[in-house]
Amino acid sequence: MRPSDSLNKVLVLDFGAQYAHLICRRIRELGVYAELVPFDIEPEEILQKNAKGLVFSGGPRSVYSKGAPLPRKSIYDLGLPILGICYGLQALVHQNGGRVGRATKKEFGKAFVKVDRSSPLFAGLSEESTICWMSHGDAAEVLPSGYSSVGTSDNSPFAAIASGNQFAVQFHPEVTQTEKGMQILANFVFGVCRCERNWTPKIMIEDALEELAKKIGSSERVICALSGGIDSATTAELLRRVIGDRLYCVFVDHGLLRKGERIKIGSVFGEKMGSNLVVLDDSRVFLSKLKGVRDPEKKRQIIGSQFIQSFAKVSKKIGGIKWLAQGTLYTDIIESAKGASKHESKIKSHHNVAGLPKKLGFRLIEPLKDLYKDEVRAVASELGLPDALIKTHPFPGPGLAVRIIGEVTKVKLEICREASAIVEEELSKSGLYDNVWQAYAAVGDDLATGVLGDERRVGHVVIVRIVESKEAMTADWSRVPYSLLESISSRITNEVQHVTWVTYAISSKPPATIEPQ
Ligand code: XMP
Repeated sequence: MRPSDSLNKVLVLDFGAQYAHLICRRIRELGVYAELVPFDIEPEEILQKNAKGLVFSGGPRSVYSKGAPLPRKSIYDLGLPILGICYGLQALVHQNGGRVGRATKKEFGKAFVKVDRSSPLFAGLSEESTICWMSHGDAAEVLPSGYSSVGTSDNSPFAAIASGNQFAVQFHPEVTQTEKGMQILANFVFGVCRCERNWTPKIMIEDALEELAKKIGSSERVICALSGGIDSATTAELLRRVIGDRLYCVFVDHGLLRKGERIKIGSVFGEKMGSNLVVLDDSRVFLSKLKGVRDPEKKRQIIGSQFIQSFAKVSKKIGGIKWLAQGTLYTDIIESAKGASKHESKIKSHHNVAGLPKKLGFRLIEPLKDLYKDEVRAVASELGLPDALIKTHPFPGPGLAVRIIGEVTKVKLEICREASAIVEEELSKSGLYDNVWQAYAAVGDDLATGVLGDERRVGHVVIVRIVESKEAMTADWSRVPYSLLESISSRITNEVQHVTWVTYAISSKPPATIEPQ
C-alpha cells in the first residue's frame, strides 16, 4: 500500500471540462490529496482508493443528451459527501429524480450569488452576496426530493443546492474569478468530508520511493533521461535513493539546448553520478532529421522518437537496461490528451508523452506523473537538490525547436539561443527571474527592415515572451518594467546578428500557449 493510499483523499470525477484538473489542483493547494478519475469509476474502486469525498466536475455536454457521461448510479449508495460543479450539479439533479433543461437565461461570466451562510458549504463567508463565475447553458428546473436551494443568482434559483452531505453549485469555485472559491472548496473538503491537511512533500516522496521499489526488480537497471531541468533531476534523485548504482543517467544533447546547458549538467550531476552519467552528443542527427520540417507537431514527433533512439543507443552500450525513467508531469499528460478524461482535446504533444514512438523498447517509469510543477519543486527541495536547479525556469524537452517558428535553421537557432540568454540575463540582473514562470526569445521567418549606421538592413523579428503562471495550464504575460524591455531589446539588436526588431508577446494562455509551437 502506498503511503498516499491511507491519506485523506478526494476524487474528482472527470466529465470532460477543460479545467477539471484545476479542481484537483485547488484541493491539493489546501494540503489534501485529490485525484482526477474517469466519470464512470466503479464504486469498488472508489472504496479501494479510500476516498473521503467526491467532486463531480463540469463538462461540455447536456446531461439529458444521448450518450452524455453520467456517474454510475450505485456510487450514490456509498453515502460519501459529494460536491457537484456546473455539469456536476446537473448530473446530480438528473440522476436523482429532478429535471434539467435549456436555461432561458444563460449565464456566462461573473454573477452575484446570494448564499445561505448557515449551509456548511458557505460557512464563514463574510458576505451573503459573493461574486461567482458561471458558464452554463443548461440549468436545474426541478430539484430532486430532499434537495433545497442554498444559493440563488439573478438568473437562477438553484445556483447552489444541498441535501445532507451532498452539495452542488452551478458556478465554478475552482477558478480565481470566483471570489470565495477556495473557501467554499475548503468548507467542503474540511467541513463536510472531514479531511486533514496531510498532502506534504514528505508523503509525496515516501509514496514515490515505495512505488519505485515495488516496480523495479532487485537486480534491474534503469536509465533516466536527464534534461537539465528540475523534473528529470528529481526523478533521478528518487531513483538513486532506491536503486543506487543500478541507475544510469543519460543526457542527450539534441543541439537545441539553451546556452551553457551542457556545462551545467556536468557540474550538477557529474559528482553525484560519476561514471553512471552519460552525455551523448546527437545534435547532428536531430538537426538533420528536422531539416525542412515546418509543422510543430511533426517536429515534436521527430524529437520524441529520436530521443528514444538515442537512449536505446546508450542503453545497448550499458547492457541489461529494461526501464526508461522520465520526469513527466501531470500537466504534460493533460496537454497531450492522455489524461483520465475520455474527452480532453490535444493541445500539443509533449515530447515525453505523445511524442514517444508506438514501439518503445523500454518500460516507462514516471514517478512524478501525478504531480504539478510546484509540487515537484517542493519535493526537490525536501530531497535537498540545489536551489539554483529548483528555481531554473522550465524548459521544453524539444528545446529551442518549439521556440523557432517554422523550420529550424542554423541562423534561427543561433538567434533563438543568443537572444534567450540575453532575456534570462537581463531578467536576473533586474531581480525578477524568480518571480516569473518562463522567459525566453522566439524567432520565426518574419523579416523587418532596420538601419545600421546609414545602411538599410533586413533582419529577423524576435519575440520576447515573459510569462507568469502557477502550474502552466494557464499563464499571463508579465508586466515587467519598460526599462527592462528596453535593455533586452537594445542588447538583442546590438549583440545578436541578423535581428532588426524585437517585440513583446502580450497574449495570455488561453487563448495562446506558453511556447509558440
Ligand atoms: P505550453 O507551450 O503548452 O507549455 O503552454 C506548458 C509548459 O510545458 C512546457 N512544454 C514542454 N515541456 N516537453 C516538455 O518537457 C514538451 O514537449 C513541452 N512542450 C511545452 C512549456 O515550456 C511550458 O512550461
